[in-house]
Amino acid sequence: MIKPLIAANWKMHKTIGEAAGFARQAKAAFASITDRDIVIAPPCTALAAVGEILKGSTVGLAAQNMHWAEKGAFTGEVSAAMLIDAGCDHVILGHSERRNLFGETDSLINKKLTAALTSHLKPIFCIGERLEEREGDQTFHILRQQLHKGLNNISSGDIRRCVIAYEPVWAIGTGKTATPEQAEQAHVFIREVIGDLYGAAIGNTMRILYGGSVTPDNVAGLMAQRNINGALVGGASLDIESFTKIIGF
Ligand code: 13P
Repeated sequence: MIKPLIAANWKMHKTIGEAAGFARQAKAAFASITDRDIVIAPPCTALAAVGEILKGSTVGLAAQNMHWAEKGAFTGEVSAAMLIDAGCDHVILGHSERRNLFGETDSLINKKLTAALTSHLKPIFCIGERLEEREGDQTFHILRQQLHKGLNNISSGDIRRCVIAYEPVWAIGTGKTATPEQAEQAHVFIREVIGDLYGAAIGNTMRILYGGSVTPDNVAGLMAQRNINGALVGGASLDIESFTKIIGF
């Protein structure tokens, strides 16, 4: 069985003080949990403070984005080395908000994945179709394309350090979760594509998270699916009680 990973994506929420307060509570509350991996992705400004608090704890730290270059004249951007310096072990890449609001393309995401892996950060690589793509029966086509282009030239050694998050865009922040069956169908497909690219052994052990309006009420049904290995949680991860309930699914 693949150990589940529950990741909190706080997006553009929480001050340093608020993030640090949550991290202190999380460190204590989740210390004895060994059957799940837990990762928190605060906004960039809070990474170093949260990283300091989480040092030596079981809770991982993720950034929500990064630049692909090592350093240079890239105003407003942050490199993999800077994230590691702040205590990060993971980085979320290819989130649909980055793709749709900030114009990130599959090839740009591929550069970021490559840079993250070179720096030994573990990417949480997000993919997912938009509503019109689902309604136009394009879901599998889109997922295959995002995987093929995003993972271009990523080796089989490196892919083992990636986590994939299936986040249907129409389910993000809308309260409209994919049904467990819809999510499972997409996860099976993603596993097959990874199997085609890297062989069945890697396809079958790939950790694939579901994201999109996950709450304490619907998490159990999603996690009961054979091919769902965790969750990437937005809104419901902002409150420690709600996030704790999700972890305890
Ligand atoms: P919500 O859980 O708020 O729908 O957000 C999901 C998400 O985008 C996580 O990355």
